[in-house]
Amino acid sequence: MKPSLLPHAFTPFAPTKVYAARRATLAAQLGPKGIAVLPTAPEQQRNRDADFLYRFDSYFQYLSGFTEPKAWLVITGTGKTILFCQPKDTEREIWDGYRLGPDAAPSALGVDEAYSVTEMDARMAQLLDGCDAVWYPFATHKGLDARITAWLQPLRDRVRYGALCPAAQRDVCVPLDEMRLIKDAYEQDTMRRAGAISAGAHIRAMQLSARMLREGKAVREYHLDAELLHEFRLHGSQCPAYGSIVAAGANACVLHYRADAGAVRNGELVLIDAGCELDGYASDITRTFPANGVFSGPQRSLYELVLDSQKAAIAATRAGARFTDPHDATVKVLAQGMLDLGLLDKNKVGNLHDVIEKRAYFQFYMHRTGHWLGMDVHDCGAYTEPSEIGKASTRLDALTGEKIVSRPARVLRSGMVLTIEPGIYVRPAPGVPEQFHHIGIRIEDDAIVTDTGCELISRGVPVEMDAIEALMRA
Ligand code: GLY
Ligand code: MN
Ligand code: MN
Repeated sequence: MKPSLLPHAFTPFAPTKVYAARRATLAAQLGPKGIAVLPTAPEQQRNRDADFLYRFDSYFQYLSGFTEPKAWLVITGTGKTILFCQPKDTEREIWDGYRLGPDAAPSALGVDEAYSVTEMDARMAQLLDGCDAVWYPFATHKGLDARITAWLQPLRDRVRYGALCPAAQRDVCVPLDEMRLIKDAYEQDTMRRAGAISAGAHIRAMQLSARMLREGKAVREYHLDAELLHEFRLHGSQCPAYGSIVAAGANACVLHYRADAGAVRNGELVLIDAGCELDGYASDITRTFPANGVFSGPQRSLYELVLDSQKAAIAATRAGARFTDPHDATVKVLAQGMLDLGLLDKNKVGNLHDVIEKRAYFQFYMHRTGHWLGMDVHDCGAYTEPSEIGKASTRLDALTGEKIVSRPARVLRSGMVLTIEPGIYVRPAPGVPEQFHHIGIRIEDDAIVTDTGCELISRGVPVEMDAIEALMRA
């Protein structure tokens, strides 16, 4: 190992006892002779000599608090934690930045032992000897199965000399997904702060749009994207949690449109779906606003419908409800509104029941109303209720004819975090009133489930039309 004269400069996001408690919870599920092995994410090259911004693996970070690449965590069923990390190396640290190093890791991270990652292969064979099950994340890290097999091989070769090779391989994501689904106090606090930063960024983008148009300037989508990024970084966010969507006018009807160079025009709406990542946690907010700060009549009609549908979804979000309840509540309101506004012709599609049954609303609302939110923007966690996994039913999809297997949806519990994001996207089609053509609206908030309802942590940016117009006048 090359020596290093450089000090380490690393502090985890949360107190080390937070990670230690999570490791203890996991260890208790591994069995006394179980062992878990988790790598962090690999670095990804962008092009010659330049990497993508490094992002650690969420499971690894959740259990360790460590943000460096080329690191592994090993947790035994008896509760011992071993970290493998990059060794100190003055020359590499001058180029790439400080490394914590194995000597400083136990006190900085609260792990029991730490070694250089270069010793990993040799030490893993010893660590696995005598274990009955090896747990690792299935189907998430390319080549990991082969690496584990390579560690097990020498053990198999030595069984006749008394070595004990684990007989079972288990997916460590199963217990970890359940743990990550319920956010602890530290996570909820971080997510509230991420939501507040992102809300401020949305306000800033709205205000810039109105101000530039008032001043007669040409506004482009990237001007608004720049405001988002500025506000995220100004408040300590490390990066956007996903590629920001800044979609002016008809671009809003492209669900995964990326912030680009489209013109932001007077009289059109802008849809922004953007949220920052803060200390490993995502926020995910969508607002739709008039570029110049004043909603037109048809825009108002559609916006009010989406907002009403979001209110219905929020009212359906509480501990004890099913994950699908907010979606079903949204669809009911949107479908009725589509009939009332003439987007759907009742002579052709029938009544509300028919529209829902035949999924006719899909023409204008084709996504789900939410997803789990956490370290990953589409966070881990089962969407079906684990205690009712055997209760499967099949049905034929009304639109595609495909056979769909449904299982009872997850029962919401306090501390789960999900988005509530209804929308409406009107592409021109025969019979669709022209005044609504090319309007795309989504309203997305982040909710922590509570016993009596939910706490919206993204409402630092308003959703009511009058409030949006007022802040855009400011
Ligand atoms: N921004 C991604 C989503 O809303 O799901
Ligand atoms: Mn979302
Ligand atoms: Mn979103």
